[in-house]
Amino acid sequence: MKKITKICCIGAGYVGGPTMSVIALKCPEIQVTVVDLNEKRIAQWNDEDLDKLPIYEPGLKEIVAQTRGKNLFFSSDVDKGIDEAEMIFISVNTPTKTYGKGKGQAADLKNIELCARNIARVAKEDKIVVEKSTLPVRTAEALKSILDNTGKGVKFEILSNPEFLAEGTAIEDLLNADRVLIGGDETAAGQAAKDALSWVYEHWIPKDRVLQTNVWSSELSKLVANAFLAQRVSSINSISALCEKTDANVAEVSRAIGFDSRIGSKFLNSSVGFGGSCFQKDILNLVYIAKSFGLTEVADYWEQVIIMNDYQKRRFADNIVSTLYNTVSGKKIAFYGWAFKKDTNDTRESAAIYIADALLDEMAQVVVYDPKVKEETIYNDLDYLGTRSPEENRRLLKVVSDPMEAAEQSHAIAILTEWDEFKTYDWQKIHEIMLKPAFVFDGRRILENEKMEKLGFKFYKIGQSH
Ligand code: NAD
Ligand code: UGA
Repeated sequence: MKKITKICCIGAGYVGGPTMSVIALKCPEIQVTVVDLNEKRIAQWNDEDLDKLPIYEPGLKEIVAQTRGKNLFFSSDVDKGIDEAEMIFISVNTPTKTYGKGKGQAADLKNIELCARNIARVAKEDKIVVEKSTLPVRTAEALKSILDNTGKGVKFEILSNPEFLAEGTAIEDLLNADRVLIGGDETAAGQAAKDALSWVYEHWIPKDRVLQTNVWSSELSKLVANAFLAQRVSSINSISALCEKTDANVAEVSRAIGFDSRIGSKFLNSSVGFGGSCFQKDILNLVYIAKSFGLTEVADYWEQVIIMNDYQKRRFADNIVSTLYNTVSGKKIAFYGWAFKKDTNDTRESAAIYIADALLDEMAQVVVYDPKVKEETIYNDLDYLGTRSPEENRRLLKVVSDPMEAAEQSHAIAILTEWDEFKTYDWQKIHEIMLKPAFVFDGRRILENEKMEKLGFKFYKIGQSH
């Protein structure tokens, strides 16, 4: 079996960076080079100050400190990285298309195709190309067609190796993956490529957790895994609305059903709605694929998961407005949290963006505090929606670096990310500095009703009646 000695990963993002760091850590004999066209990002990965890495993930900087410069390298010389490697991972972003056919649903494969053409142009020897990005089923076929037509006689094996890490726990997920999935051709060369990649993971993942399938099953399984996870969140969020009307408590319902081993307890936390770069994108992609095969009922079934998520975000914003006596115009509303979940600085598709947008439409004065998200990111997120001018976004929404400053003289606090530090705040002090009645809307269910009510707050928690 071929033992890989040089790996290149195209894309130094939330997946490429952590995944390759862990491979470098666990496979000291393999040289791992992560390349990206974005020179600023590469410079951040190479920064002496490990607090300046472009992404925040618990445990990441310690691994980078151990491996960088030894067998882990970050470079903007994409061609050199491709040329030297025997195995090339493609881990570039595949956002939802914003133009043309499939706009708003299909995955935009522009970056993937650019990578394939780049590899085809540069490669002089046989290579294994690994799809790490999440892709529509049958993308490997398109990649193969581009790579096989270089006219240089170079042979490529295409593997699908989707990533299942979740942000905030990326390192832990990579070190102790439930499974690693490797899809490839069922030919002798395909099998050899699958075995070569399995060998890399088997440095630290038990062999029985490395699953090999055909390429299409692997590509589709990634979309299905995310769709099932998101479906659980939408399912429990739909029940949270019912709980608020019926005096049932959504946490008690989650616990009661989660004890059934067939259902299981994970991913049943009701929230202000799921965010992140992938759940919505991947479900929309699944919907698009189903539609393109004429499977309307299948498409409608999965689209409902997104519709329910949008409803949950809208419901949270509407509840703030109606509770604050049907107007938030000119009222200061503090946001605790902007990231789409705790322990990450990623804000893509975060529920906070949409809730802020709805409240700004009502002319609220929103003041945001998030321990890890930069001011620039918050404004970019809002500007990207295009609802109002950048000037107006900056006039209506402020970003502060002190949670007390956010709370000062505010009418309400909305908790939008479940950062642990929010639980440890001096909520009595916060109550003192807010306007009265002081409202708290807990979109993450992290604070206790009894304690908050005792302190004098008007406390609203998603999934419970008041
Ligand atoms: P990202 O945007 O953080 O990183 C992608 C990087 O690729 C960027 O730095 C970009 O500059 C670079 N890039 C794009 N085109 C390039 C090209 N032609 N040549 C060189 N570099 C190029 O994206 P991400 O979050 O790491 O996601 C990457 C893929 O992994 C996506 O398909 C995503 O769906 C999937 N995925 C993401 C997660 C996650 O938690 N973020 C988890 C599993 C799977
Ligand atoms: C998710 C999947 O969990 C990963 O397996 C997958 O690799 C990744 O998508 C991807 O393909 O990008 P991620 O989006 O990073 O990972 O984070 P999750 O922990 O899944 O959370 C997603 C969203 O759902 C967050 O906004 C989170 O707050 C929300 N959520 C999650 C809930 O509201 N309730 C829950 O019980 C769980």
